[in-house]
Amino acid sequence: MSKTVKILAPGTVANLVCGFDVLGLCLNEPNDLMEVALLNEKKVIIKSADGYPLPLDPLQNTAGAPLVEMINELDKEIGFEVVIHKNIKPGSGIGSSAASAAGSVVAANHLLGNIFSKEDLVRFAMFGEKVASGVKHADNVAPCIYGGVTLIRSIYPLDIVSIPSPDLFVTVVHPQIEVRTADARQILRKEVLLKDAIKQWGNIAGLVAGFIKNDVELIGRSLEDVIIEPVRSILIPGFDEVKAKCKEAGALGGGISGSGPSIFMLSKTEATAKEVEKVMKTIYDKIGLAYHTHVTTINKQGVKVIN
Ligand code: HSE
Repeated sequence: MSKTVKILAPGTVANLVCGFDVLGLCLNEPNDLMEVALLNEKKVIIKSADGYPLPLDPLQNTAGAPLVEMINELDKEIGFEVVIHKNIKPGSGIGSSAASAAGSVVAANHLLGNIFSKEDLVRFAMFGEKVASGVKHADNVAPCIYGGVTLIRSIYPLDIVSIPSPDLFVTVVHPQIEVRTADARQILRKEVLLKDAIKQWGNIAGLVAGFIKNDVELIGRSLEDVIIEPVRSILIPGFDEVKAKCKEAGALGGGISGSGPSIFMLSKTEATAKEVEKVMKTIYDKIGLAYHTHVTTINKQGVKVIN
C-alpha cells in the first residue's frame, strides 16, 4: 500500500440551472492539486501549500471534516495529512469546497486500498459541504467523485444516478466577487407556487432526457429556472446581459453555476464556446469588473489519482 498520493480534484457546476440540489456536472478545468499522506495515528493535519488562508482545524476545513468522519468509521490507528494547492477559489460557484472534500476522500480511499464505494465517499464528502454552507448537499461532490453528469435523486438515503451526456463544451465566467453559498441559500423563498413547480420539474425531466437522448436542442430548451435564478441573479452584476448575449452567440443555454457568482454556458462546438467566452469578457470589461474565464469540457472521470 502506497503511503502518499497526489490527486487532481476538479471544479463542478451544481444545479445545472433547473435542478437545484439534484443535478451537477464535472469540469475538466480548473482543478485543485492535493497531496495526501497516510499517518499511523488517528488525526487529520491540513496544510495550505500556497499560503491560501484555509481553516487548519480539520473540523472547520472542507477537506478535513470528511476525513474525520471516515477515520471514525474505521477501527484502526490511522490518519491523514493533506496538503492543498488551491486553484478553485472559495466562493466562486464552481465547487471549491466540493473539490477539497471529494479530493481528500478519494485520495484517502486510494491509500486504504479502495475499501469504500463511491457512494460512501459522497456520504463522507457531504460533511465538507456542511462545513462550507451549513447544509449537506451532494450536487457538487457527487459529480466530482463520479465524473460526468449526476442526478442526486435523494440524499437520505443516498441515491446517485450517473447520466450519460453528449460531449459538450462548457464556458465559465467567474466575476471576481464572492458569494457565500450559505448566504445564497438564506435568501431563497421556502415555498414555491405549484405553477412554478410544474415548469421546473418539466425542465428537469427534459434536461435529463436531453442528456440521455443526446438531444442538444432539448438540453438547451430545458436550461430554464423559474424558482432559484430570479432570486439569486440579482447578486451577480451583468447576469441577464451575459445570459442573453451568450445565447445570441450560439450557446445552447446556461445560467448560474451552483450558488454563483460564476455563470456557465453549454455549447455544441469549441468554436462557439470560445465566441461565448469573448461575449462574457466584453460584458465584464464594459462593467469594469475583474473576472476569470474557462473554456473546458465535461470531465467523465472525476477526481484523478496522478501518482
Ligand atoms: N445546490 C447548491 C446551491 C450548490 O445552489 O446552494 C452550491 O454550490
